[in-house]
Amino acid sequence: MELITTYICKEFDIGIHNNMFGGRLMSLIDDAAGGYAAQLCDTPLMVTIKFDEFVFKKPVKVGSILKIYGKVVKFGNTSLELYMEIRKHNVYTGGQEIVTHTNVTFVRIDEDGNAVPISDHVRARYDFRFKEFGKGLLSIEEKGFSSI
Ligand SMILES: CC(C)(COP(=O)(O)OP(=O)(O)OC[C@H]1O[C@@H](n2cnc3c(N)ncnc32)[C@H](O)[C@@H]1OP(=O)(O)O)[C@@H](O)C(=O)NCCC(=O)NCCS
Repeated sequence: MELITTYICKEFDIGIHNNMFGGRLMSLIDDAAGGYAAQLCDTPLMVTIKFDEFVFKKPVKVGSILKIYGKVVKFGNTSLELYMEIRKHNVYTGGQEIVTHTNVTFVRIDEDGNAVPISDHVRARYDFRFKEFGKGLLSIEEKGFSSI
């Protein structure tokens, strides 16, 4: 799995039980997964077609540091299924606890909103990067890429 983003829980994320609102957690996964899918497929034209089940395993409080991880489950013809996980990160110990996880499926669309195939280049590149670097996004270890 690869780290996609980090988020710190704020006052305005809190619901009525002093815990982070479940809908905010779902939204964080949608954002992170959407960006990840777009980067993996080299296009912003990716729409969410399906979320699997969400189970909220641990409460999140103000100040909690959340790490959002993802990985590809499978490339379909026009679809991409991702596994997404939010973990609470303890900065003192480095320990992490799973807060929630789910699978999200995106569909690649054209300018008219119709489903179109994901290119073979995208799949091949993901396989290559995952094998070489353990992640699907461009990494600074990748040959020929220099960090900013
Ligand atoms: C995404 C959309 C273009 C797909 O159109 P469609 O006519 O249903 O397309 P298809 O039936 O050809 O299915 C496209 C892909 O979605 C997959 N799919 C369809 N229904 C699915 C479901 N219930 N669960 C998982 N995948 C599904 C199909 O298997 C297919 O994948 P594949 O090509 O890899 O085999 C259309 O449903 C849509 O616009 N939905 C709204 C998206 C949206 O607004 N999302 C929220 C904001 S991003």
